Amino acid sequence: MNTFEKFDRVDAWNEFWKARANKGFASSRSNQSNNTYDDISKLIEKFDNINSIEDWGCGSGTLYCHLNDENKKKYTGIDGSVVSINENKDINIKMRVNLTKYTSSADVISIRHVFEHNIEYDKIFDNALKSFNKLLIIVFFTKLNEYDNSIKYKYANKYPGWGEKNVEMADLYINKNYLKYVLNNNNFSQKYNEKKSYTFINNIGADGNETILIIKK
Ligand SMILES: C[S@@+](CC[C@H](N)C(=O)[O-])C[C@H]1O[C@@H](n2cnc3c(N)ncnc32)[C@H](O)[C@@H]1O
Repeated sequence: MNTFEKFDRVDAWNEFWKARANKGFASSRSNQSNNTYDDISKLIEKFDNINSIEDWGCGSGTLYCHLNDENKKKYTGIDGSVVSINENKDINIKMRVNLTKYTSSADVISIRHVFEHNIEYDKIFDNALKSFNKLLIIVFFTKLNEYDNSIKYKYANKYPGWGEKNVEMADLYINKNYLKYVLNNNNFSQKYNEKKSYTFINNIGADGNETILIIKK
């Protein structure tokens, strides 16, 4: 049986971020070259009257570093773990928040590489749909599962290269049909030029095979 299903994601990444911090956090954060973050930043700039930007599962706050100066002031990172202990002083980050139980009201919400580690990603998806006012961007690093509705794992429990002890970790293939079903049920159209709509974009990204889901209200 897979015990991961019962595992709480709060504090799961503490040791990971501590190890990063010990290696020199500021440089690893700001030098991370990642076109996806630039794309997200440019997309946000196309929207008028953005007052708040939340980065769910923000980790070290890489998105913050890719925002322009004006948007940096609007940024709040939210994460389940204690992140970037040494270097967080300049960034507004709320830690030890469980995204499966978190809602807010933010003009923009960005969620990158988070659903894949949560068997309960459906709850995070619901919460995000309730919480964003204008733009919701979700980035997946595993190829979306389009072929069946079962839960598909790339890795479950054994996570290659993961240095944590006693932490279960998984990469899931997220079900595209489920995402579309929820969006259609919430009256989001697939015609992206309409106001309340969504689109999927294939992206090379840092891990070679990203999908970006862009949802507008
Ligand atoms: C792979 S990292 C991604 C970090 C960052 N978004 C990026 O793209 O570089 C996943 C992050 O999401 C956080 N996370 C995963 N599931 C979560 C949950 N259910 N609640 C809160 N944070 C979660 C982890 O603590 C971790 O910092």
